[in-house]
Order: sequence, then C-alpha cells, then structure tokens
Amino acid sequence: MLRLFVAVRPPRPVRERLLALMGGVAGARWQDDDQLHLTLRFIGEVDGRRAEDIDAGLRGVRHAPFTLTLDGVRSFERRGEPTTLWAGVAPQEPLRALHKKVDQAVVRGGGDPERRAYQPHITLARLPRGAGSIGPFLESAGGLSGPSFEVEDFCLFESRLSAAGADYTILERYRLG
Ligand code: 2AM
Repeated sequence: MLRLFVAVRPPRPVRERLLALMGGVAGARWQDDDQLHLTLRFIGEVDGRRAEDIDAGLRGVRHAPFTLTLDGVRSFERRGEPTTLWAGVAPQEPLRALHKKVDQAVVRGGGDPERRAYQPHITLARLPRGAGSIGPFLESAGGLSGPSFEVEDFCLFESRLSAAGADYTILERYRLG
C-alpha cells in the first residue's frame, strides 16, 4: 500500500525563508527542508492499481500557472491547545480552484472523498503536548509577507511514517499550463 498526497513543492528561496523563521519554541518539531510542502489534497493509503488510476486522473488536470506569496504564520489548535505552526499563502482563489480539480481527479481515480475542509497551509512545526509558548514566535514571524513564487507544477508525494517522523518522496510531477 502507498500513503499518498498531492502538494505544491515551494521553490528553494521560499523554503529558505521558511527555514530561517524556525526556532524559539521549546519542544517544537520543526519540519526540515525535504518536508516543506503545500498540500492540495491528502489521499491516504491506496494500492498500486488505484495509485495508477489516480496518477492518470492527475495527468488530466488542466490549470494555468499562478503566483502565490507567503502570507502570515498561524497555528492549528485542538481543544484549545496548539498542535501545528504553519505559514499561509495568498491569494487563495487559484489554489482553491486547483484543489477542486485535483479533488475531482482523485475521486474519479477511486480515491476516498475529502473529509476535511481545505485550509491551504505549509506546516512549519508539529507541537507535542507541553511544548513551549508560541506567542513570541507568532509575534516575531506572524507578519511574514513574501517571497512570491510561481506555481508551475504540482506533485504526487508518497509519505512514509516512522518514529523519526514523516519522510516524503515525490513520485510524479504534473505541469500546469
Ligand atoms: P498537515 O501538515 O496539516 O498534517 C501529508 O500527510 C500531508 O497531508 C500533510 O501536509 C498533512 O497536513 C496533509 N493531510 C491532510 N489531511 C490529512 C489527513 N487526514 N491525515 C494526514 N495528513 C493529512
């Protein structure tokens, strides 16, 4: 079985900007360069046959390239406790339109329907219980604005989970335009 998701891989200058922000929250598990991505659609576990059908669907996605800009840093919370620090992007409209096409391609390929609302984000850190306060980090990094980057393709990723964390591999790239 393959654990798959579809995401945009930000170019190096954008990843370097994000990596430079990281630090200052005790216990946070900061993402490394290989892990930085902007998810378009989580797929989950599928067998090889279904992965091929989804790949074929993704090859059929037609969408014009577009520009995104890093925009702010926020957190996800569960029961009032922050669980994730992430960077936002703007504008969201072209990304949401591409998300919709990717979602339809995944469902046509036999993937399960999406269960979560789509919230575009680039995860910066996972926060285990008892991690330090995120207030100072949000204060210093929250005003993140830029750089901008062209989204010219998107990728099918395989995720391998281990005790050491998630290991992501790009299986396919799909060009826009
Ligand atoms: P996250 O960073 O907010 O956890 C690979 O797991 C990517 O797919 C991650 O970026 C993850 O988002 C995202 N994702 C979306 N829905 C998911 C789900 N139900 N389970 C795991 N990851 C999910």
